[in-house]
Amino acid sequence: MQLSELFTPQARELAPPIWAAPPVAGAIPLISLAYGLADPLMLPGEELIEAAAQLTSNKIGEVLNYAPDARSLKMLIAERLRHEGVAAEPRQILVAYGSSQILGILPHVLINPGDTVLVEAPTFMGAVRMFARGGARLVGVPVDSAGLDVDALEATLRELRAAGVRPRFLYSIPTFQNPAGVTLSLARRQRIVQLAAEYGLLIVEDDAYVDLRFRGEPLPPMAALDTEGWVLRIGTFSKILAPGLRVGWAHGPKALIDRLFMFKPEGSSGPFVTHLVAEFSADGRLEAHIAVLRQHYAAKCERMANALRRELPEASFVMPEGGFFIWLRLPSGVNATELEPLAIQHGVEILPGSRCFSDGSGDDHIRLAFSETPAEQLDEAIRRLAGAIREVGSYLDS
Ligand SMILES: Cc1ncc(COP(=O)(O)O)c(C=O)c1O
Repeated sequence: MQLSELFTPQARELAPPIWAAPPVAGAIPLISLAYGLADPLMLPGEELIEAAAQLTSNKIGEVLNYAPDARSLKMLIAERLRHEGVAAEPRQILVAYGSSQILGILPHVLINPGDTVLVEAPTFMGAVRMFARGGARLVGVPVDSAGLDVDALEATLRELRAAGVRPRFLYSIPTFQNPAGVTLSLARRQRIVQLAAEYGLLIVEDDAYVDLRFRGEPLPPMAALDTEGWVLRIGTFSKILAPGLRVGWAHGPKALIDRLFMFKPEGSSGPFVTHLVAEFSADGRLEAHIAVLRQHYAAKCERMANALRRELPEASFVMPEGGFFIWLRLPSGVNATELEPLAIQHGVEILPGSRCFSDGSGDDHIRLAFSETPAEQLDEAIRRLAGAIREVGSYLDS
């Protein structure tokens, strides 16, 4: 008798995680541009230690015992949402272990096997994988330089309605999109909200990067434009404080928030970390920290963009106004999946575009994260990438 016979069909089908060793680039240490990690220089270790010391001396019973999430954190999230124009209430907020946990719970509440879910193409595959595990049939809607293509969305909704299908939700990353770096225009936000009301479409608005704006004016989130309760807004402290704390949240219709909560087996999301985030953020400290992050990441984005213009004028990109990524269109004929191992040989790791599309297309692009890599290594990383691309190009010419 085999242990694996006890696994559910779903667990049997899942590929086991690959705990691969990081790729090695021969003699040269590899520079990775593949992942959207925070810059270690920007993690406020000292301040978090001070905040933790405060908590353990003043609130030990609340922070180290079984207890609900810190109420002060929900108040902070509600206040930040109100600042964005969302009529937020703490009781409509769910705090979770990162926004990933919310994306992981959504299928339990909303997806039956075979149900249709609309996703941007390209998108954050971490989310898509979780929707697929819930049995979703994923339908991609293209993204261009102004974000999700709303005409294509409307056409898809019309076709689905004609076929008697109501999608369970639209998953959208409106600001500094992962991976495309683009921002959904105001006009498109307004139209999507209208379409949501017309089609009874739930919008899952994942705005993980919204606070990291380098230039331009902030746009109202779809949650602020919606008056009928069709938006679940998801956010995270990973990009503005520290991903290792694992604190994210959702705000939306109470009926949905309550049901999401019921699928969180651990109840509260860690009294210690939720109090810690609230303590750190008090008295304007979080906003001051975000202002420093914006400048820091803006300079890194600029540096990577300049290096790309210099080293790879034959590749193109839309300059992002914020976030962690540049989405690079490769010179014609260069395939991202073929480029990946060659780039590693040249000492740089990239993310092939096909990892960001639910249908495996997209290998005419690569995603380059400028967030984690030390600023002074970005020029060298792009020089190495250009070397790898030229090598593919020379095969193409020969
Ligand atoms: C668009 C988007 N949503 C959610 C997440 C997950 O963030 P968290 O650390 O809050 O789980 C990420 C992380 O990269 C992301 O890019």
